[in-house]
Amino acid sequence: MKLLHIDASILGANSASRQVSAKIVERLKAVTPSLEVTYRDLAAAPLAHLSGTHLAAAQGATPESAELQKDVAQSQAALDEFLAADVVVIGAPMYNFTLPTQLKAWIDRLLIAGKTFRYTASGPEGLAGGKRVIVALSRGGFYGPQSPTSAYEHLESYLRTVFGFIGVTDLEFVAADGIQIGPEQRESAVKGALEAAALLRAA
Ligand SMILES: Cc1cc2nc3c(=O)[nH]c(=O)nc-3n(C[C@H](O)[C@H](O)[C@H](O)COP(=O)(O)O)c2cc1C
Repeated sequence: MKLLHIDASILGANSASRQVSAKIVERLKAVTPSLEVTYRDLAAAPLAHLSGTHLAAAQGATPESAELQKDVAQSQAALDEFLAADVVVIGAPMYNFTLPTQLKAWIDRLLIAGKTFRYTASGPEGLAGGKRVIVALSRGGFYGPQSPTSAYEHLESYLRTVFGFIGVTDLEFVAADGIQIGPEQRESAVKGALEAAALLRAA
């Protein structure tokens, strides 16, 4: 069984989402020792933004440079890694009400018609079901339904949309919220998320 672990925070050792995603992987590995873990750090090794020449090369045009050829190969590797994974654990911090651009650049490499979704006469159909995706969210504020800023939430809602679109129905979130409210709230939010991670069902 394969697990793909993704981190995207730019805050290194001070990152809450990295701490929680690591705990999730530790928990799953503890209960399923045979789990094969692949790690991708999107802040340390970012994927490039999509470009027209990249799309053309991905669709069969001869890459016009060695750099583009490398980029197309990286894209394929990211997609293959995702498709091969039974479980995907993602550290997802909220930046400017949504996801970091590094994480978006990775998602841009996954949503490929014919690979992870397809269009049918009755509408789009996800092709990447049968996978469990667990997201470690960390947000500076609170965005629950009772919050006056609930409409500003475009991280969890976006990830629900995107993974739902490609057919992932086994989607879980472990959240550390209010990280920027103060040190006590940060401590209790991270503690709560780590406790929730430690209780996740086996892979
Ligand atoms: C560039 C940047 C933008 C941020 N924007 C928001 C935001 O729009 N809303 C929010 O609630 N918190 C925001 N925060 C706070 C982060 O969501 C919070 O610090 C969270 O812990 C980040 O995850 P990380 O610690 O894993 O990097 C922002 C933080 C950074 C660094």
